[in-house]
Amino acid sequence: MRRFLRIALTLLGLIFVSACGAGTDTSGDLSGEELTVIGMCQVGAESDWRVANSESMKAVFTEENGYRLLFDDARQKQENQITAIRKFIQQQVDYIVLMPISESGWDSVLQEAKEAGIPVVLVDRMVDVEDESLYAAHIGSNFWEEGMRAAAWMEQVFPEGDPVRIIHIQGTAGSTAQLGRTAALEEAVNSHENWELLARLDGDFTQAKTYEVMTDYLSALPEKGDIDVVYCENDNIAFGALQALEEQGYTCGRNGVNIITFDATRGALAECLNGKISLAVECNPLLGPLAAEVIQAMEAGRVPEKHHYVEEQVFAAEDLTEAVLESRKY
Ligand code: AHR
Repeated sequence: MRRFLRIALTLLGLIFVSACGAGTDTSGDLSGEELTVIGMCQVGAESDWRVANSESMKAVFTEENGYRLLFDDARQKQENQITAIRKFIQQQVDYIVLMPISESGWDSVLQEAKEAGIPVVLVDRMVDVEDESLYAAHIGSNFWEEGMRAAAWMEQVFPEGDPVRIIHIQGTAGSTAQLGRTAALEEAVNSHENWELLARLDGDFTQAKTYEVMTDYLSALPEKGDIDVVYCENDNIAFGALQALEEQGYTCGRNGVNIITFDATRGALAECLNGKISLAVECNPLLGPLAAEVIQAMEAGRVPEKHHYVEEQVFAAEDLTEAVLESRKY
């Protein structure tokens, strides 16, 4: 329905323009496209999770399924995401799918999309906007809940009263994943007198940055530290931390430094199976089918539910099996 209206308005506009004898630059205008046009603003490719997420989107938004996907990789920069959204508005896409890098700074550009009549579907992370009507729906994980699952595991494995010395390596500052996982850890540390935060480092969700900051941190210690847990806000952070710890002579696993990670991609589960990662909390990147369902609902004139949270599980090294690893899709 929306589509017909949009095409009709465009045709009227074209008649008006030619009647006036004036020309407008409509290069890249996709309003007459037969397929449903999706403008997608992806954060980048900083992690294995992100790559799996992009693949999941590309697998559903195909021509065979009735879509034309315009995929933009923002290379970890919010300004690139904003520029891409403005371009999609100019092109008159049917929907914008946005994976916001951070929560703040979206009011103006989402208002522009709303004024252009283009519904925005948020995937993965959230935005912090005054007006909730600036986005049609959000599909993703409950990051705080993921962090609480990690804290519950720590409560269960460390005897009450024993010191638990934690290094916390954060993801991209201001992203929903960082905010939720950090808030959960803070709550847990504040409610356990014997849990101590030794350091907080910025790993920006990447292996390279984490390896660098963790190596610097460990090398600056006067002697080998007593570290019980490294709470890594995603798998790539965990890979960087593991590499740095091992190079500095630490043993990782249940009898050494316990690495906790989020995402539980195949690479992390493999390290979990071999005992080097103690806990992998799942963050499901396969959000394409759910995003398509939401868009199909809007195409049919229905109002989608505002928030959709995906089911996730937890993998502890001691429970993981080869069969689980083999069946892992990402
Ligand atoms: O927002 C989801 C997080 O972002 C994932 O945990 C991480 O790997 C990604 O880059």
